[in-house]
Amino acid sequence: MSEPIANGPQSAIPPAQHVVEIVGAGRTFGRGPGAVTALEGIDLTIQAGEFVSLIGPSGCGKSTLLRLIGDLIPATTGSIRVNGKPAAAARRGREYGIVFQAPVLMDWRTVERNVELPLEVMGYTREERQRRSAEMLSLVELADFRRTYPWQLSGGMQQRVAIARALAFDPKLLLMDEPFGALDEMTRERMNLELMGIWRRTGTTIVFVTHSIPEAVFLSSRVVVMSARPGRVIRIIDVDLPQPRTAETRELERYFELVTAVREALRQRGDEGGAGALDDAALRIRAEGYA
Ligand SMILES: Nc1ncnc2c1ncn2[C@@H]1O[C@H](COP(=O)(O)OP(=O)(O)O)[C@@H](O)[C@H]1O
Ligand SMILES: [Mg+2]
Repeated sequence: MSEPIANGPQSAIPPAQHVVEIVGAGRTFGRGPGAVTALEGIDLTIQAGEFVSLIGPSGCGKSTLLRLIGDLIPATTGSIRVNGKPAAAARRGREYGIVFQAPVLMDWRTVERNVELPLEVMGYTREERQRRSAEMLSLVELADFRRTYPWQLSGGMQQRVAIARALAFDPKLLLMDEPFGALDEMTRERMNLELMGIWRRTGTTIVFVTHSIPEAVFLSSRVVVMSARPGRVIRIIDVDLPQPRTAETRELERYFELVTAVREALRQRGDEGGAGALDDAALRIRAEGYA
């Protein structure tokens, strides 16, 4: 099979291409009586330029689904395609970047050399690495901090370095697993605004895991609501809030309606199955704290 060249020209991608195409995907950990079915019967298609959030109670398989898309672990059933090819081929072509909850930076490397790391691995020239890292650090508004070390930065700044690093080789897809989960609420809201700016400026497709309802509604073009045991998609909610999203977005009537819609989709499941009820209660409290 011939694979297209990684990092090819953006113009080669037809509009509305399916960046992610998941059909009947499932994942079971272990075997026999102790086996855990983390995900079952997942169908999800994501178009170029979308911002899709995965939300659900803890343990419902959000991280597992993100790992399947990133080919960090294989699916047990079904198929997952990224940029029109099997997830494994997309990983080999380095067609996406990943940002985790903890920024995982190297403390002995400066900020710019952290951003350059994946480019070194991919064999970019020194000049090209420096050009890309300068570009990415100004994108996340850290240009003045390029010579500092990660330990000298706040948690929010460290996460921005991780985002700059993930974007350094211009991936068409960015996978983010609760990247702002460890930040205080005010920093998180500011990071949400910044991420919206980055998304608009780069046009990158983003799949974002969160268990914050307000965060999911604020950021997304679609919110995928999941249930636990086994993890399934129970509802997909279109977020028809105007773009660009700003601080005022959080004051719109429609914003509150959508927060309520997501909360009810999650609660409904808790009442039915009981399994996720406690987690759903926690989610409600969180949402109400913002509302
Ligand atoms: N490597 C693993 N081995 C065994 N079980 C796992 C593994 N990873 C996840 N699980 C199980 O799969 C389920 C979904 O986990 P996860 O995707 O991490 O949920 P979430 O990110 O929504 O909190 C949980 O029951 C979890 O214990
Ligand atoms: Mg998780």
